[in-house]
Amino acid sequence: GTVIHSLAPTDLEINENAVLVVNVAIGTIVVFERNVEKLNEFLSTVNVLQNKHYTVNALSRTQFILPGFIDTHAHAPQFSFAATGMDLPLLQWLDKYTFPKESEFSDLEHAQNVYSKVIDRFLHSGTTTCSWFATIHLEACKLFTDIIERKGQRAYIGKVNMDQNSPDYYIEQTESSVNDTRTFIEYVKAKNNNLLTPIVTPRFAISCTSTLLKALGDLAKEHDVPIQSHLCENLAEIDFTMELFPDSANYTAVYDDHGLLNDRTIMAHCVHMSEEELQLLKSREAGVAHCPNSNFALQSGVCDIKKYMERDIKCGLGSDLAGGFATSILDAMRSAFIASNTTGIIKSQYENNGDQYKALDAKELIYLATLGGAKVVGMEDKIGNFKVGKDFDALVCDASDDTSVRLFRHDTPWDMLQKFIFMADERCLAHVYVKGRRVAGWKQ
Ligand code: GUN
Ligand code: FE
Repeated sequence: GTVIHSLAPTDLEINENAVLVVNVAIGTIVVFERNVEKLNEFLSTVNVLQNKHYTVNALSRTQFILPGFIDTHAHAPQFSFAATGMDLPLLQWLDKYTFPKESEFSDLEHAQNVYSKVIDRFLHSGTTTCSWFATIHLEACKLFTDIIERKGQRAYIGKVNMDQNSPDYYIEQTESSVNDTRTFIEYVKAKNNNLLTPIVTPRFAISCTSTLLKALGDLAKEHDVPIQSHLCENLAEIDFTMELFPDSANYTAVYDDHGLLNDRTIMAHCVHMSEEELQLLKSREAGVAHCPNSNFALQSGVCDIKKYMERDIKCGLGSDLAGGFATSILDAMRSAFIASNTTGIIKSQYENNGDQYKALDAKELIYLATLGGAKVVGMEDKIGNFKVGKDFDALVCDASDDTSVRLFRHDTPWDMLQKFIFMADERCLAHVYVKGRRVAGWKQ
């Protein structure tokens, strides 16, 4: 059927008569053939299928297949209060809503309930890979890992670190924070499950002492694991950070000075970045998790992600649940579109230089949701599109009349894709696969 995937930010391949052969035993794509006129004739010529048992799934004209969505930044425990308490900016929002709710994850029964539901929700939204923040609690982080493993999502899993500027009921000692992180990294690695990767997760510079940040940088290096945090999300956050770390040149440099900025680092938001900070981020080859829903909901600002993409900085999308109220990367694409148009509006309405500005288009939105995200999480060789040899992380999308999309005569696959991006709901996600295993979907 129709296979759609990104090859580059503005290079989207749409092939209406493509055949993907997947070895479900190992979950990888072994053949990708374009423009197949006669299916059975073609299959009889495929070497790997000879004398093998295989099943054929032929898609209808209102179906197509996309790479699985990648959420480069989300907070799993915050699902418990998502869509409530959206009346405050970041620092007050953390104090009033987030910290009290995250502290409840010392209770494993509660953790089990929320974590099961959030993984189900994300898989049904088409998020096949997610970079997760959990909480500071070691046991709940282990439980979370077990749940993700059972449900089959591909994930980065971070035990959050916080040893300063946090409430008494939700804070760690520096030493136990480091030790628990090491224990957690070893716990995830011992599973030997290549879908699961531990990630070092200092919440943000404000909530970590310099000693802790340095120890976490060392730990990431020692265990060869990725790093994630928040950067330049909100103006008050930036001011407070620079008061706390006066020896660093800027906020981005705070992470760099502690060994936390490298080609495996994911920085969420990056809304208010100076020229020097952008250059530093780019020189370290760190990636940006663009979280537009959250940036609007917490009134953080409008991130000009197009500018970062033009500079060849790695960029992907993040739900930032529950700074953002939505679980779905479809929502993140829509919010990214609005944020990009808002950037153009600000330029033309207030800065008188909007003429040159070109907002994100649908091709770029798909790129950010898939291949761009894969680069941010350092899995470009494994996921993000359907290149032969990659894992089969995929969405079988359905735009038939029993979904929320309506197609009319003369609609092309490109029209179908655009309608899907902006109008699809979950009924449009018929099947969701991670590494060849069906993990969710609307259709039985
Ligand atoms: N900065 C530090 N912690 C958080 C969080 O939980 N959400 C968001 N959006 N920003 C943060
Ligand atoms: Fe966040």
